[in-house]
Amino acid sequence: MSSIDAFVFPATLAPAEKVDRRGSANLLAVCWRQWRAEWALARRGIRFRSTDPDAVAAAYAAMSEEEFEAINGRQQWANWRTIPRALRNRLPNRPLLVVDLGCGVGSSTRVLTRCCPEGSVFLAFECARPLLTHARRRRYFHSDGSLARVSFVCQGVDEHLCWPDSRPLKDRSTDLVHASGLFGHHFDVRTAVPAIRELRRVVTPGGFALLDDGPTLSADDLRRLMHHAGFEPLERYRSWFGAPVGQTLFRRRGGSSSRLNRPHV
Ligand SMILES: C[S@@+](CC[C@H](N)C(=O)[O-])C[C@H]1O[C@@H](n2cnc3c(N)ncnc32)[C@H](O)[C@@H]1O
Repeated sequence: MSSIDAFVFPATLAPAEKVDRRGSANLLAVCWRQWRAEWALARRGIRFRSTDPDAVAAAYAAMSEEEFEAINGRQQWANWRTIPRALRNRLPNRPLLVVDLGCGVGSSTRVLTRCCPEGSVFLAFECARPLLTHARRRRYFHSDGSLARVSFVCQGVDEHLCWPDSRPLKDRSTDLVHASGLFGHHFDVRTAVPAIRELRRVVTPGGFALLDDGPTLSADDLRRLMHHAGFEPLERYRSWFGAPVGQTLFRRRGGSSSRLNRPHV
């Protein structure tokens, strides 16, 4: 086991997370499963590779949990490699408010709960209601094996971000916003603007955003949009040296997150 694997997959790995870990064993098998599932979905007229929000929501909502897991396999594999590296030694050691945009069935949320301090509150957003049903059934653990507090909201991430009881998140209340398989696959330079504007509203000065690039939104365009919204890029992370897509960690200008200790709600 490499040192990064030892960090990402420690001996305390909770049983449910071992399912996520399986993807690491054989990337070729993950890719084959993904290709087969995507082909079968296309034959049923389900095409999720789009930047049209209605088409995206309808396509993901039409998938079974197994189909989603299959088409999201490479993303899940990448999440365990990029997110822990990006967040390691970056976050203040106190309970945080953490937002996961486009959480699917909760695979990325699961990585986030492992990487963030105990007592943190996690809020995960997803537009496809059936996927949230699966996400809610899962359990989420911190690195010490304790259960994490995760709430889910069914809404578009380009709208005002709200708590499950419909209260909007407070301005500058959020310590970390995460997205994987979202900006680079379902937004472009035009459609990403409302979501990024909302990040500018909710992320606290000194707080972080870890966002993905991809075929529909390049890393350069993402950096440019985030710069205009008041975020500085810190570093871009890829799952392996040849990966064409990655995630960039940004910090909101104007403060040090570690100095702040506000109530979240
Ligand atoms: C490729 S999946 C990634 C899921 C998860 N982040 C992960 O890494 O496992 C992208 C997810 O984003 C959701 N999504 C796409 N556009 C969205 C939007 N505008 N608002 C909310 N969710 C969205 C999709 O329904 C899908 O579940």
